[in-house]
Amino acid sequence: MVWVDVAAIDELAPGDRIVFEVAHHVIALFNVDGNHYAVADVCTHDDGPLADGRLLGCEIECPRHYARFDLRDGSVTVPPAVRPLKIYPVRIMEGNVQVEVDDVD
Ligand code: FES
Repeated sequence: MVWVDVAAIDELAPGDRIVFEVAHHVIALFNVDGNHYAVADVCTHDDGPLADGRLLGCEIECPRHYARFDLRDGSVTVPPAVRPLKIYPVRIMEGNVQVEVDDVD
């Protein structure tokens, strides 16, 4: 497992999100009231990108068919999705947001 710098902490204001790719993982990083959450940017219903969806508290709503997921644990809160999102550990180190991925090759 590897921690990767993905943004300076002041690049992402509360309510903001960014999408980035690390070692074939396409990841959406959200700032929700100062807490950072990283999830796969792929809806488990039909593989749509999630990051352009509405942020409702700690939930992201898929813009395609409106499934919702809890960013804290990836769980589905509103169908039609049934499988949880992949989530990635996040930490702050020396002013940077880091996300942990299984490899960087
Ligand atoms: S692709 Fe996300 S709800 Fe269908």
